[in-house]
Amino acid sequence: MQNFDKSWLGTPIDGLKRLPQCAPPLSPLKATPNHSVTIRTDLLREGEAPVPYPSKFRDAWDDVSVKMPCSEKNLFPMETEDGGLQSRWELIRNALQRGFKSCLDVRDAILRYHTASAKKWDFTALNLLCTEYLEHCEVQHLFNKVLPAMVDLALNAPRLCTMPIPLLKSGMNHSLTLSQEQIACLLANAFFCTFPRRNSRKSEYSNYPEINFCRLFEGSSPRKIEKLKTLLCYFQRVTQTKPKGLVTFTRQALNHPPNWERSQTQFTRLHITCEGTIENEGYGMLQVDFANRLVGGGVTGHGLVQEEIRFLINPELIVSRLFTEALEYNECLIITGTEQFSKYTGYAESYKWKDRYKDETPRDEWQRKCTEIVAIDALKYRHFLEQFLPEKITRELNKAYCGFSRNNANTKHLSAIATGNWGCGAFGGDTRLKALIQLMAAAEAGRDVAYFTFGDAKLMREVHEVHGFLTERQVTIGQLYVLLNQYFDDVCKNCRTSHPHVSLYDFIYNKVSSL
Ligand code: AR6
Repeated sequence: MQNFDKSWLGTPIDGLKRLPQCAPPLSPLKATPNHSVTIRTDLLREGEAPVPYPSKFRDAWDDVSVKMPCSEKNLFPMETEDGGLQSRWELIRNALQRGFKSCLDVRDAILRYHTASAKKWDFTALNLLCTEYLEHCEVQHLFNKVLPAMVDLALNAPRLCTMPIPLLKSGMNHSLTLSQEQIACLLANAFFCTFPRRNSRKSEYSNYPEINFCRLFEGSSPRKIEKLKTLLCYFQRVTQTKPKGLVTFTRQALNHPPNWERSQTQFTRLHITCEGTIENEGYGMLQVDFANRLVGGGVTGHGLVQEEIRFLINPELIVSRLFTEALEYNECLIITGTEQFSKYTGYAESYKWKDRYKDETPRDEWQRKCTEIVAIDALKYRHFLEQFLPEKITRELNKAYCGFSRNNANTKHLSAIATGNWGCGAFGGDTRLKALIQLMAAAEAGRDVAYFTFGDAKLMREVHEVHGFLTERQVTIGQLYVLLNQYFDDVCKNCRTSHPHVSLYDFIYNKVSSL
């Protein structure tokens, strides 16, 4: 008999592997040709602030590094007759150091180094936050303490972020390790919109996500207010107490995709639940970010679903937008070590910043929080049937596999994957198909899965049942892949309605049973 009141099915969650217990000992942190490290690794000590490396600011204004606001090449046309050029960093320093009494001063300061944007940029949300949403004492604290400390942090860039930050470009397999303090400095610069060449869609960074926060201040939507509250909670914390850890960003490409059709791999274990979230109950697992190819999606704009929320509560994720070029079909971004600073309630329209959060996650030997997040971008579907095309299924399998697999790792050291309805909200995918795709990719990568259906009990039961059935019948990943292709040929290809008349799972039960 079906048990309809259970909130989870399958393997108990405590039976799945998590970090740090499952991780192998780390080799000492060291810079290599494919790993840039922006701190002194020889001086890295638990509980001590990492020391930036090199000791003096090294300026780079080229197409392989982030163009920094404090570069001497960052110039601004003067408003004098001769139209000469002046240092934009000078201008930024002067504008920000004059102090703010109200949010209008913040706007005026930002517009002093963005004269061309003065007419376009709108600061309504920031204004509303200060005048209608925050208590008087909170506004005072913001202007007397938090914002001045954020200015100091931003202007400390030439002392904190001394090494050119490599752009993680399309096709590169490269890691970048930054300190949390450096990230805070970069994000303070993003808040004050100081990154050059990043405000025009047509610029050299057109294939990168937006990093300056200007769109966050715009409009009167309550979403923006809650986003600003969440980010200001972060800035308040990091300016009060210097964070002392590191975070690694790894761009990973899948150059040799598995031969899916031939795969003899069996399914791994599944814990599935209609309660809880990836970020809470999935602690210590590889947590999936339901990403946009421009990582972070609409976090600095209007978006407020799974990815954006994660980037808001773990704001260090946002800095990836500074250097991560749009993800290609076979690429993912792995982020290890970010800290959660806020709690939230609600989702999308009902999202609310709730409170500060004290993240007790332990750190690894590199002083990174044992929180591993992987950004994988699903395809967006407008028509339901499209996603059953074999080439689309293969694309999604390879994308998930790219995110889940770890070169040369012994699978006994790999944590389970915490995931859910990847690609099935804003991107319109089918939860039944996407669950199977993720289970196949996870199995091929040698990892178990904790699947969070986000309240959907029916989905929980159906995925559990099909997983149990496939496991029991010892159906291989290759056999299921062939069945998925057959489903397209037999059911979807000539379908004249928007949805197929035979469900995918019924098709699978039928075919496997008759084998
Ligand atoms: N834990 C588990 N499941 C969740 C959680 C959570 N914290 N939050 C949401 N879900 P969506 P997509 C479930 O729409 O379709 C962003 O703008 C919930 O059922 O965020 O891949 C990105 O930047 C939800 O409907 O992912 C991309 O542009 C489902 O996961 C785009 O959205 C899908 O969440 C990606 O859209």
